[in-house]
Amino acid sequence: MKVLMVCLGNICRSPLAEGILREKARQAGLHWEIDSAGTNGYHTGEAPHHLSQKVARLNGVDISTQRARRFTVDDFQHFDKIYAMAGDVIDDMRRIAGKKFDPNKVDLLMNEVHPGKDQDVPDPWYGPEPGYHEVYKMIDVAANRIIAKYGQPGAGGSTQGQTSGFTPQKSHEQK
Ligand code: 4NP
Repeated sequence: MKVLMVCLGNICRSPLAEGILREKARQAGLHWEIDSAGTNGYHTGEAPHHLSQKVARLNGVDISTQRARRFTVDDFQHFDKIYAMAGDVIDDMRRIAGKKFDPNKVDLLMNEVHPGKDQDVPDPWYGPEPGYHEVYKMIDVAANRIIAKYGQPGAGGSTQGQTSGFTPQKSHEQK
């Protein structure tokens, strides 16, 4: 399974989402391809924000070698599932992808935790360190749900590079 995490700058939220899900997939023995991107491209080539790196490190996840890149229309071709951190990110993705925007592949990350609630992962960029810890916790719960949902044999996400047969599913679980 190929999963893309997307936020605005690709330096605060989505690098955390990439690193957290990659670590959980590794621990689960899943050979998934996981990447992240930002819709605004302002920070292309930069390492994750130092506070994202810090909270990741405190939780045993190393995101220091990840580098920001801009989301492109080709990402809809390559990835099976694309998670946006917030609604404004989906608006940007629609603008960038135009007719190639594929709603079947896109969802808000937190809809994996609270289906249909359309909750954003708040942008910690303008705030102090506690915001980054809060973001980490939210993404951690969502990543657990993704592993539980797509990491089972037969779920369509258990093998490397498997694209056919993967059907995005909506969870109806309410918490
Ligand atoms: P992110 O946070 O989308 O979580 O990476 C942001 C980082 C930078 C900017 C916006 C959001 N910016 O406009 O530079």
